[in-house]
Amino acid sequence: MAPVTGAERDPALGPVVVPADELQARISTLGKEITADYEGRPPLLVGVLKGAFMFMSDLARAIDLPVEFDFMAVSSYGSATRTSGVVRIIKDLDLDLTDRHVIIVEDIVDSGLTLAYLRRNLAHRGPASLEVCALLLKEGLQKSDPDIRYVGFRIPPEFVVGYGLDVAERYRNLADVVRYVGS
Ligand code: IMP
Repeated sequence: MAPVTGAERDPALGPVVVPADELQARISTLGKEITADYEGRPPLLVGVLKGAFMFMSDLARAIDLPVEFDFMAVSSYGSATRTSGVVRIIKDLDLDLTDRHVIIVEDIVDSGLTLAYLRRNLAHRGPASLEVCALLLKEGLQKSDPDIRYVGFRIPPEFVVGYGLDVAERYRNLADVVRYVGS
């Protein structure tokens, strides 16, 4: 098992699913793709708090365009490791999306229910375009095709932490994405 970077040994952590260097390499590629796709129409990045904060920060620096940022915080009801699809907006956007080229920046897509809600909600605000960039997509869990323009990594349907992702607010500062096995 590869060592977890940025953390002491913790029995609740399983193997590394995506190591830090692979995250950074893929994000650099995604940044180049977005730079090419959005030339002449700089995007507004909408980060979904809290999980996407690290990804948003690294992705934004990999995009060579005058991007703007906004953040939204949502919470899905349900058990700690499963969403029910009932999404509540905790913090709404500050900016008006009218005629903007919006990219939703998500940490992880599991059932896809949170993303489906966000997409519907933001589409009603009159953006010129609306795409999604998700760092992690859990394979085989979405009921319908989640239609995500930019995907960092497809991972098995296991609970993971690190690089912004948490369990009860812990492990967000791990440099790697790691399987959570519990205690
Ligand atoms: P979905 O609505 O089932 O797609 O769940 C999306 C949200 O649930 C993500 O934005 C995360 O906040 C959380 N989530 C889903 N899977 C994981 C995971 O493996 N680790 C940490 N958070 C997760």
